[in-house]
Amino acid sequence: MEKRFTKDHIGIGILGLGVVGSGTVDLLMRNREEIEKKIGLPIRIYGIAVRNVNKPRAVKVDRALLTDDPRSVIDNPDVDILCELIGGVEPARSYVMQALEQGKQVVTANKEMMAKAGNGIMKEAARRQLDLQFEGSVAGGIPIIQSMKNALAGNRVTEVMGIINGTTNYILTRMTEEGASLEDVLREAQELGYAEADPTSDVDGFDAGYKIAILSAIAFTSKVSVDDVYVEGIRSISASDISYAAELGYIIKLLGIGKRMPNNQIQVRVHPTLLPKHHPLASTHDVYNSVLVKGDSIGDVMFYGRGAGSGPTGSAVVGDILDTCRNLRFGSTGRVACTCFETSTVQPIEDVETRHYIRMVVQDKPRVLSAISGIFGDNDINIEAMIQKTIYGKQTDIVWLMHESPGKAIQAALSAIKNLDIVVEVSNWIRVEE
Ligand SMILES: NC(=O)c1ccc[n+]([C@@H]2O[C@H](COP(=O)([O-])OP(=O)(O)OC[C@H]3O[C@@H](n4cnc5c(N)ncnc54)[C@H](OP(=O)(O)O)[C@@H]3O)[C@@H](O)[C@H]2O)c1
Repeated sequence: MEKRFTKDHIGIGILGLGVVGSGTVDLLMRNREEIEKKIGLPIRIYGIAVRNVNKPRAVKVDRALLTDDPRSVIDNPDVDILCELIGGVEPARSYVMQALEQGKQVVTANKEMMAKAGNGIMKEAARRQLDLQFEGSVAGGIPIIQSMKNALAGNRVTEVMGIINGTTNYILTRMTEEGASLEDVLREAQELGYAEADPTSDVDGFDAGYKIAILSAIAFTSKVSVDDVYVEGIRSISASDISYAAELGYIIKLLGIGKRMPNNQIQVRVHPTLLPKHHPLASTHDVYNSVLVKGDSIGDVMFYGRGAGSGPTGSAVVGDILDTCRNLRFGSTGRVACTCFETSTVQPIEDVETRHYIRMVVQDKPRVLSAISGIFGDNDINIEAMIQKTIYGKQTDIVWLMHESPGKAIQAALSAIKNLDIVVEVSNWIRVEE
């Protein structure tokens, strides 16, 4: 099919002028001359759809470009590339489909839409040989998607693992540095604008779940349903867990983890994790993100940077726009289509084998340790290390570090342990990665 671009400039339409939209427009205007030289053609913004055209904006734009009618941007025949930067699944998905149906290229930063409905959208783009680029959807400014789809594409990837939610990393960093409680740090993060008024998506791990679903699908060339991703947030993490983990030589991070297993299975999970202090991801602090990829040829490769915000995410969106412009110009759009050609199944979390950290409060009495360790033994769980501290009078905190065992063995052991008279509570159970 002859697709060579015959216009003398490339038209861009944008849906959304919030955090990411402003960063995108600002960068396109600020570095316009250089960007156009890199593309080899001028670019022009034809319209920007928002909900409220009268709202003050973080970036100076010609008011005449603003509209509250997204269809006027999507349907504009001068628009060659539609940037969807409004978020959520609907109406974003419908707008993207409408643009693709009209033969337009699409750039988006929408992780929720890509994780929940990306497959259908990508199929439509591939069928029409159109670009659908979504670098901004994972880890903000970090170029992880383009890198996996292009530079690392020769590798068989065995693992992709990262700190992919800046809000929770900020909270855990502050808790680690100050011994503060999650509630106090969260409240402060909300005041500083690092956490949303409704922090559910971040704190309960859903945001990281969308991102690890997207990364795993690319890494393992397989469709990953977001419903199959095990997601556990950080609400259960206390200052005590952080301090016991430190005593054992670990730091607690919320990780997104994707692993290729034998028998065509993959692991895709998000949960708080004890990481050894010397682990490459362990020094990622505050709102920063990092992603570690293991490939059969490259070995370990790590990406680090700002995982959110106007400038960093705008950088990712503009990178995608630039790449799409080049593809348009040379008639090569749709070149890097969906690569989900394998059909892997996600291993149930109960079967996932890791090491484990367990904290409990017990009565300070004889034979307590033998009763508990007996139950661990009955479930084939090997103890690696233990800390015991008397906390208040007759009660003792016990922290266990366990060798590798499946989650279901720990679950069974903890159900039995909870029924012992000498056990006051099982306070936390956190997986450990190396
Ligand atoms: N914020 C980040 O750091 C970040 C990082 C990576 C990816 N992302 C993703 O980028 C996308 C945008 O996020 P954001 O933080 O920029 O959101 P935001 O600040 O809330 O901005 C959303 C923009 O979309 C407009 N909008 C919303 N619904 C609309 C509709 N139905 N029709 C027309 N315009 C509509 C809003 O208009 P008004 O301004 O008039 O309300 C606003 O300008 C999301 O998918 C998000 O997950 C965000």
